Amino acid sequence: MAFNKEQFANLIGEFTVSTEQLREIAADFRYDLRLGLKDPEQSSLRMLKSYVGLPTGKETGEYLALDFGGTNLRVLRIKLLGEGKFEVLKKVAKPLKVEGVYDFIGADSTAEEMFDFIAELVDEAVEGDHTTKYLLGHTFSFPSEQTDLYNAKLIIWTKEFATPGVEGKVVNDLLKEALHRQGIDNVEPTAVINDTVAVLLAAAYKQPDIYIGSIYATGHNTCYLEPYADSADAPMILNLESGGFMKLVPSRLDIEFDKASEKPGEQRLEKMVSGRYMGELFGMALAELLDEKGKNYGFTSIDMSNIILDETADKAEVVKIVADKTGKTIETADAEMVRDLASALVVRSARLVTASFVGIIWQLAGEGKAPKQHIAVDGSVYEKMPLAKENIMRALSELLGEEASVVDTVLENGGSGLGAAIAAAMSQK
Ligand code: GLC
Repeated sequence: MAFNKEQFANLIGEFTVSTEQLREIAADFRYDLRLGLKDPEQSSLRMLKSYVGLPTGKETGEYLALDFGGTNLRVLRIKLLGEGKFEVLKKVAKPLKVEGVYDFIGADSTAEEMFDFIAELVDEAVEGDHTTKYLLGHTFSFPSEQTDLYNAKLIIWTKEFATPGVEGKVVNDLLKEALHRQGIDNVEPTAVINDTVAVLLAAAYKQPDIYIGSIYATGHNTCYLEPYADSADAPMILNLESGGFMKLVPSRLDIEFDKASEKPGEQRLEKMVSGRYMGELFGMALAELLDEKGKNYGFTSIDMSNIILDETADKAEVVKIVADKTGKTIETADAEMVRDLASALVVRSARLVTASFVGIIWQLAGEGKAPKQHIAVDGSVYEKMPLAKENIMRALSELLGEEASVVDTVLENGGSGLGAAIAAAMSQK
């Protein structure tokens, strides 16, 4: 069976975002930003206060950093040396879920079990030392309502997490109680930050001209330094929870996909761009081409990456991946189309992410010119997905024209850990 060319062209069309549409999305993003600064209720951006600004670069000392934001949990002991320098003294990591063995993120787990597991990992990081005093910075990568740097209440789980008893709670209280249960009273959690904030802090610790921090991975979200966040105070980083941005042009398949997801109506931008969802969206489109609409083949964004990387004439890798997942053997001509489909989704993803960056850049520019800056980004899609980076750059220049010359993106690898340590250092002021 060969693919229907018209159907294929229509699908690609549905996933294509024109320059004009992109400009509109960026403008709407800026509009929601401004709305959110006045009244977050009115905006599709949550605009969550972080109660932290930029580091001075002079932060020093030894801290614990807890990185809790995906299935892989990490605890690091980090020594900050100042001026962008640091040493990782110890690093321990464990998944929160091992298929068929244990699962602390599913609906059948409890908050207590989850945090006891985290406390055990902290214990490993301090190597059983229950006397030396440590401040702990906690990168908690979910939407949280903060009243100060310590006090962050989980608003709602995202990324398909479902552990009961955490939503609505102060996460550091849950952590403190778990540490206490295990006699680890020498470790004091003092700061909670979102992973986007961690990326921004880590990048700004190393170099100037950083105002925007973003995660482009399993999930997607961005924060920025807002000069007028809390009228009386100094500039503060706001976690936009931009994955929840709504003013988009979802395709027919995006709408179907959202309806069938864990939390319909939520995280609309994230569902169109991030690694957690892109593979499934791709699978839905492919199922239509294979005349099996509704089938879920379990494609991941890593499959998409491998498909796009196959530049050979016979597309053997694409044919193999499709056969493995769908049980169907396709011809080379169809494999070309499969590759084009994967590319179209990645290109769209990068363009939409860029539109949100541009919305922020316009906000930072006010009536004037865009400030010179490096947008700090961390995450597997940004780092590893073919076509992502180049399409961000392309879309930046499409939207910013000449001004794009003062803006670029930098990879802030592992910023979640370093950022948490910096936040712990900053909590001492
Ligand atoms: C999800 C979370 C957000 C986080 C992002 C990246 O969108 O809601 O808080 O920053 O994933 O991990």
